[in-house]
Parts: sequence; C-alpha cells; structure tokens
Amino acid sequence: MKQLLSLPRVPLVAAPTPLLPAPRLSAEVGADVWLKRDDLTGLGLGGNKVRGLEYLLGDALAQGCDCLVTGAGPQSNWAMLAALAARRSGLTPYLVFYGSPTRPTGNLLLSELSEADVRFTGEHDRASVDTAIEKLGAELSATGRRPYLVPRGGATPLGAAGYVRASMELADQLMADGLSPSQLWLATGSCATQAGLVAASRWLRSPYEVVGVSVSRPGDECVARVTSLADGATRVLDLPYADADGVTVLGGYLGPGYGQASPEGDAAARLVARTEGVFLDPVFGAKAMAALVDAARAGRVDGPVVFLVTGGAPTLFAGPRGSL
Ligand SMILES: Cc1ncc(COP(=O)(O)O)c(C=O)c1O
Repeated sequence: MKQLLSLPRVPLVAAPTPLLPAPRLSAEVGADVWLKRDDLTGLGLGGNKVRGLEYLLGDALAQGCDCLVTGAGPQSNWAMLAALAARRSGLTPYLVFYGSPTRPTGNLLLSELSEADVRFTGEHDRASVDTAIEKLGAELSATGRRPYLVPRGGATPLGAAGYVRASMELADQLMADGLSPSQLWLATGSCATQAGLVAASRWLRSPYEVVGVSVSRPGDECVARVTSLADGATRVLDLPYADADGVTVLGGYLGPGYGQASPEGDAAARLVARTEGVFLDPVFGAKAMAALVDAARAGRVDGPVVFLVTGGAPTLFAGPRGSL
C-alpha cells in the first residue's frame, strides 16, 4: 500500500470515473447491472489503458527516459493511448505495428494525429512486434536516446498497478452507494487489467469475483498470465499477502477471431447503446457484454454485478467490420 502511493505516477486519469446503474439494461437481461465507465478516463477518447500508463510513464520519467517504444496491431487502443500518454509526459512515442501500412482509420488515424513515429514489421505474426520493439530500442540507444520499452498491451506488473488503484476508487464508490456486487465483469486481452483487479480484490478482500472474458487467447493461457501478472503486481506494490482464490476467465466469445466483430457481440453492443446510451467497442467490450448477457438471461448471475466499460470506441470507426 505504501509502495502504491509512493510509486512514481503521471496523473492522466480523470478520476473517479462514474459508477452508474444501468436500469434499462438490467430490466432486459434480468440482473442488476452497474457500469464502471472507464471509457471516460479522460486521455484521448478514454479507455482502460490510461490507468496503467500513469505508472509506466511515471517509471519512464523516473529513469530519465526521453522516448517510449511499444507496439501492437494498427488498430490497437493500447498503442494509440501510449502515444498520447508519452506526448503528455514530454516523451517521443515510437509505435511498431505488425502487418503493412494500411489506410489510416480508427486508432491508426489517431496514432498518426499524435505524430508518433509509426513503423510496420511487414509480418502478419503479432509476435513480430516483440522483436521489433527490442530492435528499435537498441537502435535508439545506439544514437544516444534513452528509450523506455513497453511490451504489447502494457502487460507488466507495473502496468497492472493501474487497476489496483482503480479498485480502491471502486471500493469507495461501492461503499458510498451501499453496493456489494457479486461479480465484476470485463474483457481480457493482454491480461494486465484483470491482473490488477485480481491482485487488489485479494488484498482488499473485495466482495466480488473478477470475471474476465477472453477476447484473444485460450482461457487457460489467460488464467496463467493473469495469475503471474497479479502475483507480480502484488510484489511490485508490496501488497500484504492475502489468500489467492482461483482466477476466472470465460472462453467461448471470441467469434471469428481476435480483432473481428462477432454477431453476439454486435447484438450486445446494440442492446447497451439502445438501453443505456453507452457504446461498446466490437473487439473487447461487446464480446464481454455478450457473455454477461447470456449468463444473466440464463439465471447464472446472482445479485448486483459491475461491468467495466473499457473504452475502445475508435475501432467503431475502423472501416469494414470484421477486419480490424
Ligand atoms: C478497449 C479495451 N478493453 C479491454 C482490453 C483488455 O485489457 P488487457 O489487455 O489489460 O487485458 C483492451 C486491451 O487492449 C482494450 O483496448
């Protein structure tokens, strides 16, 4: 706890983000659903990634770095927000994307607006980004720059710290609303967000189970990554040890594949837009909501639940659906 408060951090989040009841959605699905609006975190068009970036940029500045190197796919929310966070902190952003240059839409358009240095690996393999980040980092160091390298998704124990802090924020809101949810649902990709929530819920003994819905990896791979990142965050933040329950990650909602819209996700996104006036992105939030809607309608949800709206709206404008 002392560590969490004393870690270098660049304030980027417009905190607290709202925790709002979703009465019309709740009536449609037959469960008491609340929305934690982390699409409104306040940097760029918002999103969950801003929270981890507070700590990553804090670390970069503490180390005297002058540029940030990271990457992902061209439609990555992470990469775009990392570029904006770097700019806000006075660092030059370098982004490495897999694949080849494409028409700038959605997040790629926004990344370019930040005037980040954007490069493509020319390979379709997502892992090509990992080696390209290392290579670019070495090239920059050789010219006297001081690069700060971050893996795809910001998935490091320090990146997960953002959602330990967010959990404290949520705990205050739950107390103020007299709410004791049984579950906290979210979309899980690189696993840092769920890891922070899991580490914090063990430490704070939160009433809820954290339920991740995998949108890219097999469920067992997610469980292993969440577990290891949560343990790492517990160590980095020096959180008092608490008994570790299992980690819950649901599969079955990937649809045609990572980055591709699914019919169930589209239906869930329409339902939330129609009932609550909130937009879910097709790659993450829509698929996680589809899982929650199914569980609620099947009577598998007991008591109030919170759904973490993680942002990602730019991919709604990324051109033909199904090829994000
Ligand atoms: C909009 C959105 N939601 C959810 C996630 C998943 O977060 P994580 O990668 O920490 O699992 C991401 C990751 O990029 C995202 O961009």
